[in-house]
Amino acid sequence: MTLPVYLYGHPVLRKVSDTVTADYKDLRQLIADMYETMYASEGVGLAAPQIGRNDRIVVIDADPVGDSFEECKGRKLTLINPEIEILGDQTETRYEGCLSLPGLSEKVKRVEHIRLRWLDEDFQPHEEEISGFLARIVQHECDHLEGKMYIDHISPIRKQLIKGKLADIAGGRIRCDYPVRYAPRKK
Ligand code: NI
Repeated sequence: MTLPVYLYGHPVLRKVSDTVTADYKDLRQLIADMYETMYASEGVGLAAPQIGRNDRIVVIDADPVGDSFEECKGRKLTLINPEIEILGDQTETRYEGCLSLPGLSEKVKRVEHIRLRWLDEDFQPHEEEISGFLARIVQHECDHLEGKMYIDHISPIRKQLIKGKLADIAGGRIRCDYPVRYAPRKK
């Protein structure tokens, strides 16, 4: 089932998410729905807060950007309770977008190499060193679990320049070609 994507301005995107336990109800169905939602909106990653749940679950399918970034080819990751360890001090600045910020893309500086630890949908532990654009996607999605969004990383000048667009998204004054949920109206 395709779920609506919660847009910037919704408080669910600003909360720190909870650790997922093995007794989590209907986890497999939720993960399947998250993949379906991500594919329907042509994203390469989706975090649970974006479908309105403050739980530490992320789905990634980076294959669509595999032609531009070799490290993304064929990479599909279901992350439960992911943890990032930064490796080295190399950074890279590239454009990023987010399904919760339709129509926007901004340059974001990210760490180039990380070690990722996570549980899969069977709660089996995994660990892998990840680099490049795949590491960027992982960092972007894991930010969502901390209540952060990529616009938190951009300069105050850039943020000022896109202020109007952000207000339009938060105010529900945009059209989107996938199902979305707007922020509740401020009283
Ligand atoms: Ni995002």
